[in-house]
Amino acid sequence: MDTIYVIDFGGQYAHLIANKIRRLNIYADIKHPCVNIDALKSAKGIILSGGPNSVYDENIPKINNKLFSMNIPILGLCFGHQLIVREFGGKVKPGFKEYGTARLALLDNSTIFKGLAEHEQVWMSHGDSVAALPDHFKVIGKTKDCPYAAIYNAQRNIFGFQFHPEVTHTTHGMAMLENFANICQCRKDWTIKGYLNDIFEKIKNQVKNKKVFMLVSGGVDSTVAFTMLNKILGEDRVLGLTIDNGFCRKNEIDQVRETMSKYNFHNLLIQDHSDTFLANTAGVAEPEKKRNIIGRTFIEAADSAMKKLGLNPDQWLLGQGTIYPDTIESGGTKNAAVIKTHHNRIDMIAEMVKKGLVVEPLVQLYKDEVRELGIELGLPEEMVWRHPFPGPGLAVRALCSNGEADDISNVLNPETIKICEKQGLKISVLPIRSVGVQGDVRSYAHPAVIYGKQDWKLYENISTSITNANPEINRVVAMIGSETLPELKLKKAYLWRDRLDMLRQIDAAVMDFLEENNLIRIIWQMPTVLLPLSSNGNKESIVLRPVITRDFMTASFAQIPFALLNNLAEDILAFDFIETVFFDITHKPPGTIEWE
Ligand code: XMP
Repeated sequence: MDTIYVIDFGGQYAHLIANKIRRLNIYADIKHPCVNIDALKSAKGIILSGGPNSVYDENIPKINNKLFSMNIPILGLCFGHQLIVREFGGKVKPGFKEYGTARLALLDNSTIFKGLAEHEQVWMSHGDSVAALPDHFKVIGKTKDCPYAAIYNAQRNIFGFQFHPEVTHTTHGMAMLENFANICQCRKDWTIKGYLNDIFEKIKNQVKNKKVFMLVSGGVDSTVAFTMLNKILGEDRVLGLTIDNGFCRKNEIDQVRETMSKYNFHNLLIQDHSDTFLANTAGVAEPEKKRNIIGRTFIEAADSAMKKLGLNPDQWLLGQGTIYPDTIESGGTKNAAVIKTHHNRIDMIAEMVKKGLVVEPLVQLYKDEVRELGIELGLPEEMVWRHPFPGPGLAVRALCSNGEADDISNVLNPETIKICEKQGLKISVLPIRSVGVQGDVRSYAHPAVIYGKQDWKLYENISTSITNANPEINRVVAMIGSETLPELKLKKAYLWRDRLDMLRQIDAAVMDFLEENNLIRIIWQMPTVLLPLSSNGNKESIVLRPVITRDFMTASFAQIPFALLNNLAEDILAFDFIETVFFDITHKPPGTIEWE
């Protein structure tokens, strides 16, 4: 089959590129940079992915240089673009860091930009930039801050983009990838149905005469995976277990019970292990540590349930609803930096995956494809369109702390303060940290908070400029529902049941708000995050984090009418344990969707 190979330099988006190419009905596969050329016989084109390194780092993945002389079209993206420049004798320099949208002026729309406008919105996420072009390359696109944003060598059919066409925020990125595929003269003969057949066969071969024991959270992924395993193997060879870990949403467990009996699954057990989860995470604040403990506790709970049921581990494999992004952000591709460890990718499970003991029918798919598949399998729309909810649940939405704050006095540069003042905004920094992703690397930095004016356009611009200009800020929030920002201090707080109950209440109120205002299908996900920040040590703070996304690899913060939002903030402030409400106005990157 005609194939476009994506060479994976560890960027967040290597798999996303392949996924996008497949959506064009063209087969795409991922390969390591030192791949043997013999393994690329069906190659019609090569895409070099982005990556977390600089091209001059000593530890960059070794590349097989023969890739450059295969005489087929090549497209380099971000790190791949810089690699092409270095390979052919140009210059790359550490320089202006850029994260977010930019306006690309197209200087030649005869080839890869065919059919596009004079200017296009593109998505940038890079640290280094090209400083001088190699011979025989010309510029075909530039932005205000990036003079070599798109380059082309006509003799060799090699293209380089500093930006990411594979993310939805590059408005016509798909058209650019399709133009590239046309330049490669690829046949469009790959289909999701064929891919599904493959997976059916693969799972049958992997499971052989064994059975599969699977943890089912009731979310979209695990429900679709469970349904699929039931179809492939039959109900008597699959057993599901839903664990109440103490981090579920309000009434979540009851809902799972109802849904599963409504859809006639008789092979699902529900057990309460919340005491164990709360005991194991007691006194832990560091997000990665929390995630690892929770992942491990899931496995221990599954083990103990299997023992109690008298299931022989030699006869049973572990089923998981892992999807592509879970493995990528956990550093699952060979070169990817760990952004966060997803609960289903902790070391213990990674070892089991290596031994072939884990069955993951969705591991190649993105959320939208999982939904498509769910519909195909006959699951109802309201189940398939549920907002995703992370495996570790509210544990990663209730931020914890030992109460000792970092020194944040010099985090903001004075220029940023001046810019905000000019726009009629006040700005401050919150004494807490959250996870983010910048230029393919994990960040763990402070949020800035702005207040004093409500204006979405202004928020959008100021948020990007604040995170670009302040290396220790990876997120910006706007305060809502109050005029003055209290002097918020970090307080000691862990995963205590009463804190989780507080968050459960607010989270339920926020989800009701989305339902009542018909926003559930417009907003893709809306984490409600509890921050241990208060002025007197008694109360806490809340962050609302609604996002619009397609693939969850990148996202924009959602803009909800201020009138509605202010009412919601008022409702939240009516809970006597909440002091301040913030609204997250950070895109992903640089902020991840979740705060941990
Ligand atoms: P981030 O926060 O990385 O989230 O932008 C991307 C998507 O992944 C979900 N997420 C998880 N899902 N286990 C999961 O099953 C996890 O450990 C986990 N962490 C994040 C997140 O809710 C969002 O949809």
